[in-house]
Amino acid sequence: MTLPEAQQLAVKDAMPKHVAIIMDGNGRWAQQRGKLRMFGHQAGVKSVRRAVSFATQLGVKSLTLFAFSSENWRRPEEEVSSLMNLFLTVLQREVKKLKNNNVQLRIIGDTSRFSEKLQKRIAIAQNETATNDGLVLNIAANYGGRWDIVNASKQLAEQVKKGHLDAQDISEEHISALMDSDTVGDVDLLIRTGGDHRISNFLLWQTAYAELYFSDVLWPDFDEDAFGEAIAAFVSRERRFGCTGEQVQALLIDNQKNEDHFA
Ligand code: FPP
Repeated sequence: MTLPEAQQLAVKDAMPKHVAIIMDGNGRWAQQRGKLRMFGHQAGVKSVRRAVSFATQLGVKSLTLFAFSSENWRRPEEEVSSLMNLFLTVLQREVKKLKNNNVQLRIIGDTSRFSEKLQKRIAIAQNETATNDGLVLNIAANYGGRWDIVNASKQLAEQVKKGHLDAQDISEEHISALMDSDTVGDVDLLIRTGGDHRISNFLLWQTAYAELYFSDVLWPDFDEDAFGEAIAAFVSRERRFGCTGEQVQALLIDNQKNEDHFA
């Protein structure tokens, strides 16, 4: 085996299975162009598509994206309602593509606060992609890490109250299993774009052992090179190989033979 081949295998072996992303910087991206913030969110959707395609090519098992936090309701009403319309449109438009690309879509968070129409759209999109066994794409919507923990705690308290569980027996597994994000699992690599170094109440429980990677790139500009750099940083931290973004790209050349990618 040649050295480049060995390096490629090493990269493949050390690849994160679950990548989570805090997609930040849409507003600033738009403002830099003298446009309304919504223009940035629309550009952000293109970046979502690109990230999903890239994660699929890399062989990442799950990708979890923070689309709307419990705190985002505090934004101006106009931005919130435009974001809701954007989610509706994106779900309608993309579901077929997700289905054809073997992506399983899951929404995590308290969706009960969304309009009936959006809730129905979410259910349809989840059902239509439920049997796909490729990339699992989790979209966190009206999600908060503390909300998730509180929610699980309430259910545990009920179980104890009903005598189904002894308080002394409560384990990490019990808590994990009751969280809305249980299906999401532990995060290997958490990326935040947009320059801030915060977790912002994202997957608090699931990022306990995650590698954290902060990028100054604004979300709409977060392309394959930027994503590749994050993966390379993870690989080098995990296995101390000091791999570069180019090596990750080299690995992709192989994977790109698989034509199963997004247009
Ligand atoms: C944070 O940027 C971004 C959001 C709160 C919305 C994210 C939504 C998308 C990327 C589009 C839709 C995605 C899906 C999955 C349907 P910001 O507005 O806080 O940016 P700023 O920090 O520059 O103000």
